[in-house]
Amino acid sequence: MAQTQRKILVTSALPYANGSIHLGHMLEHIQTDIWVRFQKMRGNICTAVCADDAHGTAIMIKAAQNGITSEELIDGVRQEHMTDFNDFLIGYDNYYSTHSDENREISNSIYTALRDNGKIAVRSIVQAYDPEKEMFLADRFIKGTCPKCKAEDQYGDNCEVCAATYTPMEMINPVSVYSGATPVEKESEHYFFKLPDFQDFLAKWTRSGTLQDQVANKLAEWLDSGLQEWDISRDAPYFGFEIPDAPGKYFYVWLDAPIGYMASFKNLCDRTEGLNFDDYWAKGSDTELYHFIGKDIINFHALFWPAMLDCAGYRTPTGVNAHGYVTVDGKKMSKSRGTFIKARTYLNHLDPQYLRYYFAAKLNASVDDIDLNLEDFIQRVNSDVVGKVVNIASRTASFINKKFDGQLSIEASEADMIQSFVDAGDTIAQFFEKREYSKAIREIMCLADVANTYIADKAPWVLAKDEATLPQVQEVCSVALNLFSILATYLKPVMPNMVADAEAFLGKELTWDNRSELLFGQTVNKFKPLMGRIDQKQIDAMIEEGKLEAEAEAAAKEAATPTTVESELAKEPIAAQINFDDFAKVDMRIALIAKAEHVEKANKLLKLTLDLGGETRTVFSGIKSAYKPEDLEGKLTIMVANLAPRKMKFGLSEGMVLAAGPGGEEIYLLEPHAGAKPGQRVM
Ligand code: 2FM
Ligand code: ZN
Repeated sequence: MAQTQRKILVTSALPYANGSIHLGHMLEHIQTDIWVRFQKMRGNICTAVCADDAHGTAIMIKAAQNGITSEELIDGVRQEHMTDFNDFLIGYDNYYSTHSDENREISNSIYTALRDNGKIAVRSIVQAYDPEKEMFLADRFIKGTCPKCKAEDQYGDNCEVCAATYTPMEMINPVSVYSGATPVEKESEHYFFKLPDFQDFLAKWTRSGTLQDQVANKLAEWLDSGLQEWDISRDAPYFGFEIPDAPGKYFYVWLDAPIGYMASFKNLCDRTEGLNFDDYWAKGSDTELYHFIGKDIINFHALFWPAMLDCAGYRTPTGVNAHGYVTVDGKKMSKSRGTFIKARTYLNHLDPQYLRYYFAAKLNASVDDIDLNLEDFIQRVNSDVVGKVVNIASRTASFINKKFDGQLSIEASEADMIQSFVDAGDTIAQFFEKREYSKAIREIMCLADVANTYIADKAPWVLAKDEATLPQVQEVCSVALNLFSILATYLKPVMPNMVADAEAFLGKELTWDNRSELLFGQTVNKFKPLMGRIDQKQIDAMIEEGKLEAEAEAAAKEAATPTTVESELAKEPIAAQINFDDFAKVDMRIALIAKAEHVEKANKLLKLTLDLGGETRTVFSGIKSAYKPEDLEGKLTIMVANLAPRKMKFGLSEGMVLAAGPGGEEIYLLEPHAGAKPGQRVM
């Protein structure tokens, strides 16, 4: 069973240092942690590092809004993140920061290598500039009116209403979201990484087994359509590292973020005997390197990153493991629904191992999204973990403790069944190795069913009533506890604390290899209940707290920063006056939403089929972020019926439905009072 010991370095994506850890992050960190604990249990040398991603405009702005320095902000946030991960039983060997000496050094040396290899181009570009704040503005920090459809409050790169794309300066009345000032155009020199030079290298690398097929296929599309040079510099003011040979220019946050993996590891090596940086990062190294990431940041990890590493003389990752997003009850996590759940909010109400188990039971090696269905969560944890696994021990331990003074039988019966539990460990290990956790959990629960059936058949509680059958009680319970110890072994990467308690009870440290060493003839310690059931009340309280937090956050934001995007939207000024004739031209009608559908490839739009009391209209409406199609069908709303039809990317839109709200999840379709009929004119 002994295998060669592998040397493995594992990372999770570095969380931004400007916000709290939430359950979306936790999916990834739990996925990583289970894999790392599994590798360690198998006897491999596996090191896991992470860090906060501490640079960039967003962090600089947030610190300024809070009246503190960027350093103060990132230090505080890092402490919070570390406590959250620790309390979720996520055991990084090092949790560092990208704002570190190690990261500055390695970033500088990688940049210098790219430059010396002729892979950095310098040229001037024209960008929007906030003359008041004296800073360049990325497109998403500019809002204005769409030049095409005249929709207001659109971002500086594309229109959420008509899907037009444009530059910020093409907008009508563009404003900086920081100052409200009108941006001007300004030229400056930028530094570019010549990614197109790596076309052949990347075409090969992305097909070398380092990526999931789904991911490799997606990248092949990008590679086919040609790579662009990557802008790696930002002008001052910027919170980051100044480029060594370019005063006033800083590395774009995404340049030094992945280098933060190396820096965190370097920092660990420097204080750990026997851990050598070059063993893991030198070209040709035979160690393994895996990055666990979300599907939204694949291009950074599977294009820019391997190209940079290779060009600078380092090894490339063995695997980039992407996962999908977390939804709650089938919907995007939402602040107003209380389902944008922070790690801390969860921990205030529930054991982290419940979530670790639930995510494990749903995770596989694909990039599919994972739904946290709260009802299913309660049901699954209670019936699997408590009802099946914990139950094996709690039904049998008390007999061994009370009637046999903790002594397990010397006689080892049911050898075949026990051996089948041991053998299953090879398959289960394969599933963990391949990140098919849901399959591993399914195997484990099938075994738990077998164990419970065995106990139910033997009914030790009946045997215990008769002195003559007491020896059988000891034997049955001893078999059951041996089965339990094997199952606990398999669950150890997922529920480390529960299994630590089980180990204390069994008097054995459980490793993958020693699962075949049975416990017959030994004594066990006093049994303490391992894990209780989840109560619906705990979930309700957590959601309630999530809602209150979101409300408090929104209120604080509004009070502190009257010019933030959200509050500006809420205080939209009243438009210029029109006369009655202008108004009368707008023909608004009651419309019945006969059908509502998703539009393939559209991020914001739903396709509505509206019934105007006989006449039918198709309208594309940017309300997808707030509504599920099935919730709309059969509802009445109000539409502008005489708007000239507009040809959109996805089809012809014949009118417009009316809605209020700042956008995102907060879009509220207007609804008439009861009694209104489709087709009636709104006056
Ligand atoms: O998307 C994010 O949250 C980034 N902070 C991830 C960085 S991962 C790595 F490259 F540093
Ligand atoms: Zn538009």
